Amino acid sequence: MSKKGQNASDCSLMTDILSEWLLEAFRAVNENLQADDIIVMATASAEFGEYQCNSAMALGKLLKRPPREIADAAISGASSHEAVAKAEVAGPGFINIFLRPEWLGARLAEMSVDERVCVPMVGDGKKIVMDYGSPNVSKPLHIGHLRSANIGATLDRMHRFLGFDVTSDNHLGDWGTQFGITILGFREFGDEDALNEHPLEELERVYVQSYERGQEDEQWMAACRDELVKLQSGDAANIALWKRFTELSRREMTKLFGRLGVKHDIIRGESYYNDKLQSVVDLLVEKKVVERSEGALVVDLEADGLKTAIVQKSDGGFNYTTSDIAAVLDRVAEFKPDKIVYITDERQQLHFKQLFAIVRKLGVTLDLDHVWFGLMRMPEGIISTRGGGAIRLGHLLDEAEKRALEVVKRQSPDMATEVQEEVARAVGVGSVKYADLSQKPQSVVTFTWDKALALTGNSAPYLQYAYARIASVQDKYRTMFPKVDLLKHAISPEHPLERALGAHLVR
Ligand code: ARG
Repeated sequence: MSKKGQNASDCSLMTDILSEWLLEAFRAVNENLQADDIIVMATASAEFGEYQCNSAMALGKLLKRPPREIADAAISGASSHEAVAKAEVAGPGFINIFLRPEWLGARLAEMSVDERVCVPMVGDGKKIVMDYGSPNVSKPLHIGHLRSANIGATLDRMHRFLGFDVTSDNHLGDWGTQFGITILGFREFGDEDALNEHPLEELERVYVQSYERGQEDEQWMAACRDELVKLQSGDAANIALWKRFTELSRREMTKLFGRLGVKHDIIRGESYYNDKLQSVVDLLVEKKVVERSEGALVVDLEADGLKTAIVQKSDGGFNYTTSDIAAVLDRVAEFKPDKIVYITDERQQLHFKQLFAIVRKLGVTLDLDHVWFGLMRMPEGIISTRGGGAIRLGHLLDEAEKRALEVVKRQSPDMATEVQEEVARAVGVGSVKYADLSQKPQSVVTFTWDKALALTGNSAPYLQYAYARIASVQDKYRTMFPKVDLLKHAISPEHPLERALGAHLVR
């Protein structure tokens, strides 16, 4: 048996294996060195090998010796390692490590039969709540909702793969001022048939018309506010309408998120916390976190470098911040998470900074993270030129599938129609998702059809095509060599491109 870290099959991280090995070598120079002193990382370029260690630089200062001398001493005394073809000292004391191709091949073979491809379970035993998707209901989902759902679901899957126990929550905006406007609007000029046929479009129409009237007509706006107060104090007729609107919205949302492969564990809108808001404010009062200002209850966050946050309006109403405080306390009590992650666009940065600062004052200590992203636009802006409104997510996906189908028909005219359609769905939705995910999350993404659906370059269709071709090579291989188990086949990366690809996979 070789000792731990010396063979390819223990699935440890390469950087750990190599730093363990180098630590021993460095200890011959100074026996007090600890694991943290030696850091190995991937190189940026193959000319420096696959891994490098720059720790001699820091050690030079510590040990008051030239770094180069320390590195030379460590490397000349290092034992040989199965994985390492050579380790060279370069420049002022960098160590460049070149892997043995045989070892790289063995490691790749190991990965190919491990269902976790040798990725360690770093999240094992840790609990995370992830809050993403979270649209405001009774309006159609538009292109802006894609990123929270898509980036959120991606982070969700990655965390689950890493062993975290994830609870995903779709924190719907289902209790805002928009309901007063929509309820009155629907009573006055709503259309039952339209609501049944295309609910979100109808609700949006009603909302826009009612809102616009309120801009010109003070009385109308006041009447909308009355409807909201009635709703919030439990008026049966308004509650019934609200239930209907949110139910219809949820159904549409579930359908669209389903097309994107996004499915939450729980869907708790803001309304879920409704009866907890007063006790949240009571707690803030009790803990002396709030003060009165112009009739409202506010939290002064100057010491945190943030603007004052309102938690109860002067009319007694609660707001977005209040329900998010309630949600944190509730999640802590119910799930006992190590961390809560929120995924929204950049416009909510202040809100989450304020929220986190407030719950800290209440003694909440768990990790809180706001992952924000830039907006996604079409070249003509976030507003479509044709429709007048924001581009609907449903229309975007329809259009993607339609365009993908044209490509599939052109590329594979002999394919059966149902298969063409199935491929078009995967390529269409995949291209929209990948166009989003292949960008830096925090940049503004301009979505163009040409780039998303390109058959070459960094696009979903190219990746899917490459994958399909690899699968087809495997199929042919299996037909030609039915007795050979592909997974047991030796892998020998010899060509520089194969080595680079292999090193990348191992990383
Ligand atoms: N509904 C909000 C919006 O559409 C996003 C909610 C994010 N999550 C949260 N817990 N605040 O802007």
